[in-house]
Amino acid sequence: MSSAHNRVAVLHGVNFDVLERRDPAIYGGHSLSELERQISGFARERGLETIFFQTNSEGEFAEYLHRAPELADAIVINAGAWTHYSRAIADALELTGLPAVEVHLSDVEARQDWRRDSVFDGLVVEKISGKGAAGYADALDTLARRLGVGDG
Ligand code: DQA
Repeated sequence: MSSAHNRVAVLHGVNFDVLERRDPAIYGGHSLSELERQISGFARERGLETIFFQTNSEGEFAEYLHRAPELADAIVINAGAWTHYSRAIADALELTGLPAVEVHLSDVEARQDWRRDSVFDGLVVEKISGKGAAGYADALDTLARRLGVGDG
C-alpha cells in the first residue's frame, strides 16, 4: 500500500503525552492514544494510512521531520506551544516539501493573543482549530484530496 501515496504522518509536539491531564474544558479530557485511535479510524474511512509520532523534545521533533519524506506522503501537525515560536520547527517542516495541515484541538484564535501567531503561516495547506478531534478528520479530507486518494 505504501506505493499508493496515501501515508500521513500525524505529529504531536510538546505536552501531548499528558493530554488527559490538560484542562478538559479546553482539550476534551482524552488521552493521546485515544485521540490517535480516533484519527486512525478517520484515516481508514478515507483510504489513508497513518503513522504517529509525539515528543517533548524540539530537536527530536525536527529530526523526525528530517526523516518524514521517507516515511510519509503528507503531514498533519499539532506542534502545541512550539507552533507559536519555534522557527526551527517551521524550517524543518518546510524542508520536508510535503503537503501539511496544521491542527489545534482548541480555538487558538479565541484564547490569549500569543496563540494567534503561528510559525507555520504560509507553509501549510490549511490551519484548523477549535474543532477538537473532528479537526483531524477535516485535515485528512484536505490531504486525501491533495493526494488524490478516495472520492475527494
Ligand atoms: C494546541 C494549542 C496550543 O496553543 C497549545 O500550546 C497546545 C495545544 C491545541 O491543540 O489546541 O499545546 O496546539
